[in-house]
Amino acid sequence: MSRQTVSDLLATLQVGDAPNPEPCGRVVGLPTRFADADVAALRAGFGRAEMALLDDAVRWVDAPSGTLFLEGPVGFGKTTLAAALLRRYVAARPVDAHFASTVKVLNPYATGEADFTLLERASLLVLDDLLYLVDGDLSARELSRLYRLLNERWANRRPTIVTMNADRAELERRLAPSPPGDRRIIERLCDDCIELQLVGASRRTAK
Ligand SMILES: Nc1ncnc2c1ncn2[C@@H]1O[C@H](COP(=O)(O)OP(=O)(O)O)[C@@H](O)[C@H]1O
Ligand SMILES: [Mg+2]
Repeated sequence: MSRQTVSDLLATLQVGDAPNPEPCGRVVGLPTRFADADVAALRAGFGRAEMALLDDAVRWVDAPSGTLFLEGPVGFGKTTLAAALLRRYVAARPVDAHFASTVKVLNPYATGEADFTLLERASLLVLDDLLYLVDGDLSARELSRLYRLLNERWANRRPTIVTMNADRAELERRLAPSPPGDRRIIERLCDDCIELQLVGASRRTAK
């Protein structure tokens, strides 16, 4: 191949019209129901109180650190907001972010070792419906699995969004009577965290 031919080829590569996609990652594990969740669409339907919450959530996800708790009763839109934040996160970065239901994460048959490792390493993880499970009796094995995931993420400064149907004080209260070691779960979750509480009433009254 002549030198001329090589430089022609390089010129073609530099000015070619091949698609040059934006750096953009993927959301892994998002259930179909939430696949289109979108910050702009949520903003359009929100009232003033929720708009402030949404702004806080967007600020967090644009520079995430530690834990973002999305709290509120069932049906208030926690999972939808978490999904919208995940999608916003990957739209701006060439990384994968993961969505996982806590009940599946804690079950080694539902989440095998390879998938669990992906959750440990995910650049951003949504852990959906945490307190729903904590409310029940978690076995020592489940607690250990939860700790392993949260500790790995905390140790490597990987941010996590946690949805739950109560607030952080309630989370602490419910974990308090558990065996020694569970305090470590709280500490990993709350070392650097913010809580946002969804207010369903204001959404229902919004015009
Ligand atoms: N901001 C919103 N405006 C209108 N409907 C919403 C909004 N957020 C969620 N929803 C809808 O409300 C229902 C419950 O939302 P979901 O996110 O599953 O709530 P949660 O996770 O708090 O139980 C879903 O059908 C969802 O599509
Ligand atoms: Mg939910």
